[in-house]
Amino acid sequence: MYESFYSLNRKPFSVTSNPHFLYLSPLHKEALAHMLYGIQERVGFIEITGEVGTGKTTLCRALLNELATTVKTAFIFNSNLSEIQLLQTILKDLGIPSGAKSKGALFQALNQFLLEQMRVGGNVVVIIDEAQNLSNKLLEQIRMLSNLESENEKLLQIILVGQPELREKLKDPALRQLRQRIVVRYHIEALDRLEVSRYIGHRLDIAGANGKGPNFEENAIEKVYRYSAGIPRLINILCDKALLNGFVQESRRITENNIQQAIHEIEGNNHEYN
Ligand SMILES: Nc1ncnc2c1ncn2[C@@H]1O[C@H](COP(=O)(O)OP(=O)(O)O)[C@@H](O)[C@H]1O
Ligand SMILES: [Mg+2]
Repeated sequence: MYESFYSLNRKPFSVTSNPHFLYLSPLHKEALAHMLYGIQERVGFIEITGEVGTGKTTLCRALLNELATTVKTAFIFNSNLSEIQLLQTILKDLGIPSGAKSKGALFQALNQFLLEQMRVGGNVVVIIDEAQNLSNKLLEQIRMLSNLESENEKLLQIILVGQPELREKLKDPALRQLRQRIVVRYHIEALDRLEVSRYIGHRLDIAGANGKGPNFEENAIEKVYRYSAGIPRLINILCDKALLNGFVQESRRITENNIQQAIHEIEGNNHEYN
């Protein structure tokens, strides 16, 4: 609603994980490089962790866009699946036609596909988002998937993406075998002060600002940084509300006060009236 007021062609701070807005901070760049390396080197298991809102899902979507067409991918974002459903979803995502209903038959179909891809020089990647929510049983099943391998190469690259609890979860002795197979790991930290500023600028530019959009004062950015602790999701929520406030006040200049007001709104009015 405020886009045209700020000369923007779309909302700059929506909270969907749209890779079009991707800002490659040094940390995000490194996370992406780890994933690409693990895939290229066919390491088998890759683990990506980060607090809620640090950009894990966005990065996965960006990765999917970046991979060559010779790399077949499946992206699982529902962690509440049965073992059969998990296999079926992976097969469907990879485009493997199979009416198989049993675990054995699904495994077989997947294995055949993997061998075929290997023959033509391809690679296969399964990304599992919110992996901290997977049951031990499902995690064990995922480990079994990586048994589908040829003599000297992993046929399937599995990226486990999750909140820091994922790491804790994998410490369970019952998951020792899985943990030992994870070769590449990366933990996405929050953005620092400078990166927060660049992040905001980048999203405004993608939304069409190009220097003409809203003007976030330094103090305002400082406040965003302090409140969000550098978590992109919180930066978005805060900046979106601040832009709305600026719009209501007919000011293209976003001040510390606009941010303060946004914080009040986010925290509800509880604090104000009691
Ligand atoms: N590097 C980034 N570039 C642009 N936007 C980002 C970035 N990281 C996170 N975001 C934004 O922050 C919000 C939360 O990101 P998301 O990927 O859903 O985090 P997570 O999956 O780690 O919880 C989304 O709106 C997303 O667009
Ligand atoms: Mg996510």
